[in-house]
Amino acid sequence: MTAPETPKTSGKDDMAGVAASLATVEADARDRLDAATDLADFRVVKGEVLGKRSQLARLHNRLGALSPDERRQAGRLINEARARLDERARSLEQAWEERDRKARLDSEKLDLTEVVAGPASAPLAHVGRSIGHINLVTQTRDELEDTFVAMGFTVAEGPEAETDWYNFEALNMPPAHPARGMWDTLYLRLGPPETVLLRTHTSPVQIRLMESHQLPIYAVMPGRCYRRDTPDARHLPVFHQIEGLVVDQGISFGDMAGVIESFTTSFFGPGIHSRLRPSYFPFTEPSAEFEVTCPICGGSGCRTCSGSGWIELGGCGMVDPNVFAAVGIDSEVYSGFAFGFGIDRLAQVRAQLSDMRVLLDNDVRFLSQF
Ligand code: FA5
Repeated sequence: MTAPETPKTSGKDDMAGVAASLATVEADARDRLDAATDLADFRVVKGEVLGKRSQLARLHNRLGALSPDERRQAGRLINEARARLDERARSLEQAWEERDRKARLDSEKLDLTEVVAGPASAPLAHVGRSIGHINLVTQTRDELEDTFVAMGFTVAEGPEAETDWYNFEALNMPPAHPARGMWDTLYLRLGPPETVLLRTHTSPVQIRLMESHQLPIYAVMPGRCYRRDTPDARHLPVFHQIEGLVVDQGISFGDMAGVIESFTTSFFGPGIHSRLRPSYFPFTEPSAEFEVTCPICGGSGCRTCSGSGWIELGGCGMVDPNVFAAVGIDSEVYSGFAFGFGIDRLAQVRAQLSDMRVLLDNDVRFLSQF
């Protein structure tokens, strides 16, 4: 819409002429403001109809030809018209800004349904491809966390690149301790030689937790571990463990056996039980291996359990007083137990996989079975 010519009155200006021009100018300005097509257009129009060079501003120039009385009256009329137009422009501008903001938000919005997994293996119709499946190890980890949380444990995590202190020394394995040979360690080239490593187990998180948390502690700590193990049917160089730690007053070996048994029955079901066999870990005393009824044969003996009816899941024991000393906990007052076992190994046993390496395949046809 283009601006009209300045309304003119014939001959000498009078009050009636200015008032008639004002009515035309106001009506035209209103129409033009209303007809803007977007915020940018609106702002241009607003400048044209209300700015210094607008028809409205030019009407002031004509006041000089009027008598003082008429000038005052016409000035008031012009100001009233301007106030009405200002008000209209303000509310229209607000509406345009709101529309503009909404359009911008809509165009910037991420459609998370495109990247978040929905029901297993449902196709993404608009993209034409499958959305994948949660890996069996992740599912097992989630289930383990749920089981322990239901038993009253909290869940904690720690770093995968650790210092020698957390992975070994604080766990009662000083430099050159022969027990360090139980873990095939991958060291990182960071700082002095053999000071930083990829953690070989989740036990260093025990130390971090005891250093930083108030007692008592009832926690599980799942996470990735690394060892220089050649991949085979039962080993991966990158695998997962879940660690458990309880520190409180009056905790006994019997409490540990009870917690492991209730975990076993709630995770595997009522027919599966646990047993402990003497073992050695530098950070627990006494230590044990814990085994569960073979979930495949139900305890009668099969190839997976080598005919024994039992499957070894991990290690456990009472926290060694030297470990308490390393983190400044008085072992005369507090006692506790820890356990740790392989999540991949557990997933393998439950899903009856003959080779653990399939867990790394990431083949959705394999993963969708679980
Ligand atoms: C430990 O790592 C101890 N930190 C466990 C522990 C914690 C004992 C607290 C006492 C108190 P071990 O090296 O046995 O223990 O490993 C525990 C489990 O991790 C094994 O039983 C196995 O299930 C799993 N695991 C170990 N190495 C591998 C590997 N290369 N691939 C897959 N799973 C593995």
